[in-house]
Amino acid sequence: MMNAKVHQLLNTQINKEFYSAYLYLDFSNYFKARGLDGFANWYMVQAQEERDHAMLFYQYLQNENQDVTLDAIAKPDKTFTCDMDVLKAGLEHEEYVTSLINDIYAAAYDVKDFRTMQFLDWFVKEQGEEETNANDLITKMELFGSDPRSLYMLNQELAARVYTAPSLVL
Ligand code: FEO
Repeated sequence: MMNAKVHQLLNTQINKEFYSAYLYLDFSNYFKARGLDGFANWYMVQAQEERDHAMLFYQYLQNENQDVTLDAIAKPDKTFTCDMDVLKAGLEHEEYVTSLINDIYAAAYDVKDFRTMQFLDWFVKEQGEEETNANDLITKMELFGSDPRSLYMLNQELAARVYTAPSLVL
């Protein structure tokens, strides 16, 4: 039987991941309106990945014969005054999600729930990658964002990002 706190945190994470998808869809929407389709694509792919994350938590609970309770997804509430604000909000959000994954991991560790820890290992690694990606984007924007030609090329680079299904299969 799964520990109640671990169960509750895993269930809440479904909502958090769907919110992440919603947030990145909002970022994509922002860049679409700006005419930066490459940035819009990059965040669209990110939104798809977040949806996958939500489904992995959902599937894990179902595989473990645990109840799933779906909650309302909050409205994306960030406002931006410039492109860099969006990128920084993305990094801040990923750092927050990392803290959530760490909290679940700590709760599972406390009750020796090794199966949940093993499941979460993939997310620990994934969060490292997502924070690196968000940081890289900020660095590139700092370097090239103020020059229109360089921004155009960065936009082209981000247009090349394609969605791939998660490597974790449950
Ligand atoms: Fe689901 Fe961006 O972490």
